[in-house]
Amino acid sequence: MFRPEDDQATLHRPTRWQSYVVPQGWERFTAEDHSVWDLLFARQVELLGSRVVSPFLDGIDLLRLSHPGIPELRELNAILEPRTGWRTVAVPGLVPDDIFFAMLSERVFPVGNFIRTREQLDYLEAPDCFHDLFGHIPMLAHHEFAEMVEHVGRLGQAAIAAGEGDRVARLYWHSVEFGLAMEGAELKILGAGLASSFGESHFSLESEAIERLPFTVPRAVRTPYRHDAFQPRYLVSLSLESTVEAILALNPGRLLEL
Ligand SMILES: [Fe+2]
Repeated sequence: MFRPEDDQATLHRPTRWQSYVVPQGWERFTAEDHSVWDLLFARQVELLGSRVVSPFLDGIDLLRLSHPGIPELRELNAILEPRTGWRTVAVPGLVPDDIFFAMLSERVFPVGNFIRTREQLDYLEAPDCFHDLFGHIPMLAHHEFAEMVEHVGRLGQAAIAAGEGDRVARLYWHSVEFGLAMEGAELKILGAGLASSFGESHFSLESEAIERLPFTVPRAVRTPYRHDAFQPRYLVSLSLESTVEAILALNPGRLLEL
């Protein structure tokens, strides 16, 4: 039976992304937390060397991520926001897909308000601030990539509204999260999940036991992925620019036909 109070509850259920934001609580991080960040940062920068697309390395410098200790979001935003309009907010863990894409559509990137422990250096149950900040934020300082991620947010909202959220989840996964890209004649890491992973960064570039297929939007939308293991296949963008262009040209109607 219809009861007016049920309808009210539905209407007022918090769906706006703002309700997922928490204070970063930077003061709460211990000396040990900061030293875990420093260890992860130094290890990953050395491991990556020039195996990552050059805008990623430019972003690290621009955003001064090499400063010791876990970055304070307020300070990071003071550089990032005037540059590309993106800003970070703290969240306590993974946010639901609809909230995540709503955030992206407004150039807001959620960052876990916690960091892994030294004992869990290479095993993560949920993305922590090292993955989110080191992996994702450098590329959000790149103007065209920044625009593309906002567009993915809008596509995500439209796809979820049509009951087809998985299509955008796969597109996001094979580009922003686990994509590879050619830079001239060299194969490089593009995705944040690879850039921030000690084990999978080299694996994705060097393993001969996996598939590497050219990135196209239709292929990305249709190719399944693993979130509990290294990927069995990676999509390789012909160039960063070509993938940005292809994703920006995608509209929700076309996405649902692919
Ligand atoms: Fe991520």
